[in-house]
Amino acid sequence: MQRRTLFADKNVLTSSFVPENIPHREQEIQQMSAVLAPALRGYHTSNLFVYGTCGTGKTICSRFVLSQLEQAARQQGITIKTVYINCKMEKVSDTEYRLFAQILKQLGEDVPYTGLPTDVVYKRFFSKIDETEQTVVLVLDEIDTLYRKIGDDILYNITRISNELKKARLAVVGITNDTSFYDSLDVRVKSSLGSEEIMFHPYNAVQLKDILTMRAATGFAAGTVPEDVINKCAALAAQEHGDARRALDLLRVAGEVAERNGSPTIVEEHVDMAEDKIDLDRVTETVKSQPAQSQIVLQSVIKIQEDVAKKEKWTDRRILTGDVFSRYEELCRNNGLKVLTQRRVSDLIGELDMLGIINAKIVSKGRHGRTREITMPVNDVALAKMRGFLDGRFC
Ligand SMILES: Nc1ncnc2c1ncn2[C@@H]1O[C@H](COP(=O)(O)OP(=O)(O)O)[C@@H](O)[C@H]1O
Ligand SMILES: [Mg+2]
Repeated sequence: MQRRTLFADKNVLTSSFVPENIPHREQEIQQMSAVLAPALRGYHTSNLFVYGTCGTGKTICSRFVLSQLEQAARQQGITIKTVYINCKMEKVSDTEYRLFAQILKQLGEDVPYTGLPTDVVYKRFFSKIDETEQTVVLVLDEIDTLYRKIGDDILYNITRISNELKKARLAVVGITNDTSFYDSLDVRVKSSLGSEEIMFHPYNAVQLKDILTMRAATGFAAGTVPEDVINKCAALAAQEHGDARRALDLLRVAGEVAERNGSPTIVEEHVDMAEDKIDLDRVTETVKSQPAQSQIVLQSVIKIQEDVAKKEKWTDRRILTGDVFSRYEELCRNNGLKVLTQRRVSDLIGELDMLGIINAKIVSKGRHGRTREITMPVNDVALAKMRGFLDGRFC
């Protein structure tokens, strides 16, 4: 017997789907449009800085405004080109070269991903924009990644280009989820990138409910999503930080869980199960995306913990950085990996702590200085998943 599906169009419930209506963001869309509108009259357009925590609608609103702008320009016979770059994507923000190559590609000019000197690519970028009288709107989403990987000179250079253009105009829209990023910028960059700025506030539960109700109406089959399920997803996501992506993920995964259990509708319990599943996937995805050196440090911690549990070699001892290091050296040798210094390993332990995969509390070793005491905060299911992955990777 074929199981009945609860979904009418699952795509509608994924975060890459761009809905036709974007409720509760009328004001922000209006503000963004107002900043870019002079381009439609052939005037200079200010750069714009957009910030707010993740899932507050910055990306969809900017894509929406870009498409409206392009449409209006077409109708009026004006040339406006829009380039949207997510700086977090691999191959984009590793180097200045790659960024310019990617922008040029979107403007219809192919540049090899390596091979040319950076200043040649930069000149091509400049002349491509200035080849005719036009406005180019360049949206750099997750622009903080660019800054972290390349430094703030690049931001300064990009935002200054418009002063040197002869025929064309360039407007840069920088978007970030990192609300403290802007404060950390050099004043020159700040004044040029942030001549206009818009903040996106977190959604509250009522707003999230509206967003979910709209998406559920086309995403799910009629009668499969009771109102209390929507309310629960909205409330959970509002509690976290008003993240619409989280709310949508909860609802979509709850639908998948309900479907797998052969249930004709989603019930609140499925939302709880969805929450666990999403958190678990997040931990394992994070582990998978770490560089090999971090993974092997984590593997060392897990191995020591196993020994502690079996009481082999260990009798009721704390796990300290030094212990991890000796195990790490052994694992590196077994797997043909370069052994990093203890100091570097200690940094990697700190990074894993920041990602929430391990807890590394700094403790004093008396006159021997300080070290970290390591514990694993994840639950058994997550630990088993991580172990499965790491054991398959390292011997
Ligand atoms: N007001 C809204 N109406 C409908 N969907 C929304 C709204 N705000 C956010 N979303 C959805 O939530 C998800 C996250 O939004 P996004 O724009 O990517 O957030 P941000 O870029 O701020 O992290 C996307 O799937 C988006 O479609
Ligand atoms: Mg975004």
